Amino acid sequence: MDSYKLLITGGIPLTGETYVSGGKNTSVAVIPAALLSDEPCTIENLPDIEDVRVLTDILRLLGAQVDYQPAARRMIVDPRTLSSCKVSYRQSQRMRASYYLLGALLGRCGEAEVGYPGGCSIGARPVDQHLKAFRAMGAEVEERGAKITAKGKMRGAQVFFDRITVGGTINAMLAAAKAEGSTILYNAAREPHVVDLANFLNSMGCRVRGAGTDTIRIVGAKRLHGSTYTVIPDQIETGTLMIAAAATRGDVVIRGCIPAHMDALTAKLLEMGVSVGDMDDAIRVRTARGHRAVNIKTQEYPGFPTDLQQPMSALLTRANGDSVVIETIFEARFKHLMEMQRMGAHVRILEQTALIEGVPELYGAPVTATDLRAGAALVVAGLMANGTTEIYEPGYIERGYEHIEEKLRALGANIRREPLDPMEMRR
Ligand code: EPU
Repeated sequence: MDSYKLLITGGIPLTGETYVSGGKNTSVAVIPAALLSDEPCTIENLPDIEDVRVLTDILRLLGAQVDYQPAARRMIVDPRTLSSCKVSYRQSQRMRASYYLLGALLGRCGEAEVGYPGGCSIGARPVDQHLKAFRAMGAEVEERGAKITAKGKMRGAQVFFDRITVGGTINAMLAAAKAEGSTILYNAAREPHVVDLANFLNSMGCRVRGAGTDTIRIVGAKRLHGSTYTVIPDQIETGTLMIAAAATRGDVVIRGCIPAHMDALTAKLLEMGVSVGDMDDAIRVRTARGHRAVNIKTQEYPGFPTDLQQPMSALLTRANGDSVVIETIFEARFKHLMEMQRMGAHVRILEQTALIEGVPELYGAPVTATDLRAGAALVVAGLMANGTTEIYEPGYIERGYEHIEEKLRALGANIRREPLDPMEMRR
């Protein structure tokens, strides 16, 4: 249990300029990828978040030399001293993306043992497609005692994913980067961070083509050289800030983002009556009047991202009219709406569908973050609500949003931390 709670006194329009940090979901793929190199790699623009700190610990435990400079957003990984290819269950449980160590270690050492990944509880989250790809490339894979072991020299293969999976696509790319021969991934994920990983691997001398489409070809390289690489800005943080600006009827310029990555969200916000203006690497979001209700169905990129469904559905609780939100990727991603009922939201959940009846007012209440994006959604809710919202378990938010409190405060939000008193700790 976190030892503090977040307090947000809502109703203040956010105004001014802010910036986007480096992408979480790209960083957690690029850092393990550095283990594939035969020389040190420098990764720039890393967000200073819990998941990056956890990966730093794990890479060090594996014997890699890691010089992490959070203030400079930089990490230098020297994998030449790597002495182990085993990640314990306890370490793996600290984050979801620990599964990328399977692909990276298998690619580098021809063997890997990694505990089942932890992370947010938003659904079942199997890894069968990851393992299917490893097996196709020649690995013997075993799942026993809450850990996965994979062993074998990687050979190029053709992999047809049974469903689109970001993690499976990335893990297969990691395992294929040093494989003998070519690997072709069909029905691959097209997310911006898949492309970012491809660019990083290419910068080390690998040949990855087609990332960003549903067919990716990877020609394995015997040796990969060192590289200095800058990760892309966080698409989901950009979207969360856009939604927060709209929710408070503010006027915010978000700098350092890639507007093209935001097309699905931008289209929905425009449909709601929000003004969204794109500049080269910035987006301005303004709202003067109330929001129209809209329907959302989450999809793989370039569809509406599941990671933005939670903050977006929080925003819809105060729209004019009824919205239908269909979550197609994860089955347990409406917990924030259940919490928001305590704040006056009118919501009915029927399996993967949320029916949201917009209300004119939300009011502050105690709520609990159950996962990272649920936490972000509750922050949006708190910013919109009258009175003070208390968010318990805010540590989830720190896993994925760099300095979110400072960024929102700089835009005028009244958001602060308060230690829990001992009675609350016993809740
Ligand atoms: N799936 C399978 N088998 C697999 C892999 C996935 O059935 O082997 C299913 C999943 O259960 C899910 C769907 O396929 O229903 C898509 O899962 P995917 O593999 O794409 O998701 P992921 O790799 O587990 C990443 C992000 C998530 C993000 C999703 C979807 C990381 C570390 N995580 O998860 O991010 O929601 O892609 O875009 O990159 C977050 O940032 O809050 C977060 C949860």
